[in-house]
Amino acid sequence: MTLETPIQKKVSLHSSIRLRRLRSHSTLRQLIRDVVLVPQHFVLPLFIIAGKNIKNPIASMPGCYQFSLDQLTAEIKSIVNLNILAVMLFGIPDKKDAVGSSAWSSQGIIQQAISEIKNLAPQLLIITDLCFCEYTDHGHCGVLDASHGVDNDATLELLARQAVSHAKAGSDVIAPSGMMDGMVQAIRQGLDDEGFSQLPILSYAVKYASSFYGPFREAAQGTPQFGDRKSYQMDTANTSECLREVELDIQEGADMLMVKPAGAYLDIIYKIKQKFPAIPLAAYQVSGEYAMIKAAAQRGWLDENAVMLESLIAIKRAGANFIISY
Ligand code: PBG
Repeated sequence: MTLETPIQKKVSLHSSIRLRRLRSHSTLRQLIRDVVLVPQHFVLPLFIIAGKNIKNPIASMPGCYQFSLDQLTAEIKSIVNLNILAVMLFGIPDKKDAVGSSAWSSQGIIQQAISEIKNLAPQLLIITDLCFCEYTDHGHCGVLDASHGVDNDATLELLARQAVSHAKAGSDVIAPSGMMDGMVQAIRQGLDDEGFSQLPILSYAVKYASSFYGPFREAAQGTPQFGDRKSYQMDTANTSECLREVELDIQEGADMLMVKPAGAYLDIIYKIKQKFPAIPLAAYQVSGEYAMIKAAAQRGWLDENAVMLESLIAIKRAGANFIISY
């Protein structure tokens, strides 16, 4: 038989099941989708910088900026117009010190940003990232001990202080990201003692020591001045440890949990959602994930929108209820 020989007899299927039937009509395909992306399941991070008249493009995150307070009006308006319901705030203060004291100042950059955004869009949910790396002069996520490691328990008290100060300024959700042991308990206690027992905590429960945070550290000016974050953030190579982190945070009073980064950790998102289906789970598609898609698209190597949507659908398919991304 040569290739030119016409096909004499088609193979006849023995089963009447044809999965392609449901793929043939584009509307039908939409009807039977398991996973949909809707604006209300997204949280947009904003970088707020001290000073005036600043809208600094972040080189490695095209389309993202550092905003000073007076430049927020147009940005907040466009967020609201997109039907995005929530923002996550990161602050870049004008002065840093060893303990990050501007993080809990009532006149701190985040505290001011909360009231400014509440004025501009009272209905927008404000989630505040709670960490010290943007506020300390050494760039670590807590205070240092004598041997230059991060002192876990000394940091807890300061986290509680920072949380109460965010609460007083009007934050709607407190999101601790420093990966200190006991941080949720300390913050819950601090908030409850000051009358904020109704304020929810979104814990960055499962945060890996990831190289995908590179662009963010430029954006938030929080690069560690020495060493790395491997003594407090999780080891990329670990799987089951995520369940211990999550169990502890739930016990300590976390209302919602987060996995970070997202794309390279879909197995982790899946595992947590399977084990704890009832607790709302967020995933953070981080700066490096965003930058990779943008960079490839700029070179014409990938279809930006299609790849962006595909990466986000994958995160939801794995089990995330909502996504934080740029
Ligand atoms: C601060 C913090 C980081 C990110 C969010 N909160 C950086 C880090 O832990 O080094 C990264 C977010 C991103 O890369 O988009 N602790």
